[in-house]
Amino acid sequence: MTELAQTRDDWIARISSAADPAALEELRVAALGKKGEISLMMRELGRMSPEERQTKGRALNELRDEIDAALRAKKAGLDDAALDARMESEWLDVTLPGRPRPQGTVHPVSQVMDEVAVIFADMGFAVAEGPQVESDWFNFDALNIAPEHPARQEHDTFFMARETGDNRPPHVLRTHTSPVQIRAMQEQGAPIRVIAPGRVYRMDMDQTHTPMFHQVEGLAIDRDISMAQLKWTLEEFCRAFFEVDEVELRFRASHFPFTEPSAEVDIRCSWAGGALKIGEGDSWLEILGSGMVHPKVLAAAGVDPDQWQGFAFGMGIDRIAMLKYGIPDLRAFFESDLRWLRHYGFAAGDVPSVSAGLSRG
Ligand code: DAH
Repeated sequence: MTELAQTRDDWIARISSAADPAALEELRVAALGKKGEISLMMRELGRMSPEERQTKGRALNELRDEIDAALRAKKAGLDDAALDARMESEWLDVTLPGRPRPQGTVHPVSQVMDEVAVIFADMGFAVAEGPQVESDWFNFDALNIAPEHPARQEHDTFFMARETGDNRPPHVLRTHTSPVQIRAMQEQGAPIRVIAPGRVYRMDMDQTHTPMFHQVEGLAIDRDISMAQLKWTLEEFCRAFFEVDEVELRFRASHFPFTEPSAEVDIRCSWAGGALKIGEGDSWLEILGSGMVHPKVLAAAGVDPDQWQGFAFGMGIDRIAMLKYGIPDLRAFFESDLRWLRHYGFAAGDVPSVSAGLSRG
């Protein structure tokens, strides 16, 4: 065997036993790199006679090409093997059953509270909170409902037991979310934009009343807020909440001690075919109470009524949940009947968003 043939066999053997791309690259540099064995041999050609150069040159060219081809073939083989190994380790069994849906559902009241909060957050309202066991002063007096005011009777208040020897008025279970207006203004001052969703309590029980229910209060105080902004805000809310393009609201003069002027707000709807449709038809549904915050209420909360004014509103959350989702009986909301919850509940994780949709995730 000639010397060249021996060199060739050596290289081919080393190449074929290279274990990985790094080892192969080392071999390539050692053979064909600038200072590689074959390259150095080719450099010797310059010192040979023309005849010798011709025969040796061709043989060396062939050797170089052969080694180069062997390197490439081996590289392709190693790459294929690496891909095979990856496919082996990263396989996915597409026949596995899907992940189970989370157990349980989101209660319509929670869903609607989230929807309301999302819509008002989009309009710059923060969420405020207050206690459910409330003092007489926050629930009534501060809201311009004096002790002898008939509204106190209308509220069918639950009173907490009076402590013996204590002559202060008893605490109550708050009858509405309006006291949170006072607490929020005391804490934050003006200007302020908040909503206050939460539980309220009144001694009442029939198809549309339960002793505990939910309201959301709204309050916007600034230097030049008017009824026009109240109307726009409520229209915008109703359009978003009921997920319709057009709504029509009717402001009916009314009376609340804590607002002046006061208005009850009705929304245009149709009951054609027994199904409620918002925004069309000839019927009107009362959905909330509202008005311009009474100067005495601002003063009670420590906000100067000569500098600040604004609107407030209060809305029944359970009621708008019943309307939007066609739920007939309020009492069922609080019976914890699993079949009812499965039927009217919302999938956990379907978080309402103004842009992606409220009632679907
Ligand atoms: N607090 C009232 C109720 O429970 C609802 C209400 C009416 C709240 C008018 C307001 C308002 O803030 O301005 O019946």
